[in-house]
Amino acid sequence: MKQLEHVGIAVKDLEAAIAQYSTLLNTPCYKQEEVKSQEVATAFFKLKDQKIELLAATSPTSPIAKFLDRNGEGIHHLAFEVDDIAAEVDRLASDGFTPLQEKPFRGADNKLVAFFHPKTTHGVLVEICQEIR
Ligand code: CO
Repeated sequence: MKQLEHVGIAVKDLEAAIAQYSTLLNTPCYKQEEVKSQEVATAFFKLKDQKIELLAATSPTSPIAKFLDRNGEGIHHLAFEVDDIAAEVDRLASDGFTPLQEKPFRGADNKLVAFFHPKTTHGVLVEICQEIR
């Protein structure tokens, strides 16, 4: 994998969190995007090479709503950038990691993404992502 691309943070109130993280990072949010298939609203901040992704639920059935119910606000996933997401999904699946979906899908921020279950990564939800060119 190439680098840690972003850290995803689950929040209850996206606008309040954007305001707070803009102040914390001293940089504005550069993108807000809804991912309808996942029922999430996202907001991104960029530092030098890494990003912070804030995630809020857009429906009570959203995976983020379920996460917030179980855990409250906080770190939701780590995302690693890869060059060939299909090959990386195959590699990880054959090494015993558990993909959460059959195939990579279109996520936020112009990325193909795939998630791996925290049970195979010591409690951390792992995303891998590839820029769509
Ligand atoms: Co992410």
